[in-house]
Amino acid sequence: MRSPSLELDAVYGDGPALDAFLYDHRPAQPLKGVKLLLGKNRDSGPGGPSLKNGNFGNPALVGNNFDVQRTSDFTAIIGDFRNDENLIVSQLHHAFIKFHNKVADHLNTAGFTNDPFTQTKTTVTHHYQWIVIHDFLKRIADPNIVNKTLASGPKFFKGKFFMPVEFSVAAYRFGHSMIRNDYFINAPLTARPATLKQVFDFIRIDLLPVLSNWVVDFNLYFPGRPVPAGVSLNVARKIDTRLALGLEQLPGESGNFMTMLAKRNLVRGLALGVPSGQAVAKAIGAIPLSETELQQNNTTEENKILNASNKLLLAKTPLWYYILKEAEVKEQGKRLGTVGSTILAETFVRILKEDSNSFLHATPKFKPNLPRFGGRPVGDFDMTDLLHFAGVLTLD
Ligand code: HEM
Repeated sequence: MRSPSLELDAVYGDGPALDAFLYDHRPAQPLKGVKLLLGKNRDSGPGGPSLKNGNFGNPALVGNNFDVQRTSDFTAIIGDFRNDENLIVSQLHHAFIKFHNKVADHLNTAGFTNDPFTQTKTTVTHHYQWIVIHDFLKRIADPNIVNKTLASGPKFFKGKFFMPVEFSVAAYRFGHSMIRNDYFINAPLTARPATLKQVFDFIRIDLLPVLSNWVVDFNLYFPGRPVPAGVSLNVARKIDTRLALGLEQLPGESGNFMTMLAKRNLVRGLALGVPSGQAVAKAIGAIPLSETELQQNNTTEENKILNASNKLLLAKTPLWYYILKEAEVKEQGKRLGTVGSTILAETFVRILKEDSNSFLHATPKFKPNLPRFGGRPVGDFDMTDLLHFAGVLTLD
């Protein structure tokens, strides 16, 4: 069972004593048992040749440790196997391992003031939690709502903490609308752009390693980083009521994956008694979307469904759909609207408040203190800083 805290349990497992297979315990290591283990990329084998000397190879990366560690049949040896579900998430997991290892080196140079593993993990986790709130959440949700929730604390989810169904079954599934049909992986691979299906097949089908020419260049995933000629930034799709057609090609279930995903998001909401968008809007004191707004940009067929049974779905709109429509008509799909932002802000802030080890409870007050890329002033930290510090931005 994963922890509901933002403590990177997928990276750390139960720590070096219990999940020793995740950690580097070699006697010669100066930070024995503190650093996490990595894997090596292959140039050829299952999954195809890396073509390192052909058109698409990335010689700079060949033979490097840009993969998670794997068993002989390529099963990922990581704290949560689900992070090896697709190429990009797997590569991000490997980036977090490298971030941890670099932080260990950094603190070692400065001199540890606490148990080396605990101090490293705490530094990593606090910087990560900072990024979740101040970089990710403030982009995806209304920053005013995030700031207000941080300042006065969550006020709508009360009592004993559990993951709210409004979050897991509706609001946080907003991400399904941002999935793209294809993803640039790295510049040398441009001639073979990766479809969504390839991004999933690469890891999952027959359990493949990450070949050296499939190493993800994270410069292509974050604005403000150099993007080589011939490739573009992988900008997420807008948050709206449309899903990428590329989802139709994903394996896993018989039938159409895209329809299955949408259906599941809606059916689970019904089965778990998730309140309608209008009910949540009223509960938080927001003006619900009008019937006109709910029907904006829709096809005639969609609006027929919304109007059926005496306008049932216009009066009680399923929360997942409502949140997507709210983002679409109120925020042009660039971020979540009031209902979506409130559910996310309340949940994330509550998670951090519940965890006595989170950066919100640190004394003295936590401010990021790791160096940032490009000489940016220390005191803030975003995802590009983390990836840069980890050494996985391949153009650096
Ligand atoms: C290509 C990318 C993705 C695929 C193929 C995918 C697919 C799925 C599937 C099949 C489920 C299970 C549905 C069910 O049985 O109810 C699910 C659940 C979920 N997904 Fe995604 N998803 C993707 C990306 C995302 C993103 C980007 C987010 C959020 C930012 C997200 C948030 C969630 C949440 C919150 C759940 C529910 C988890 C739970 O209830 O424990 N997903 N996803």
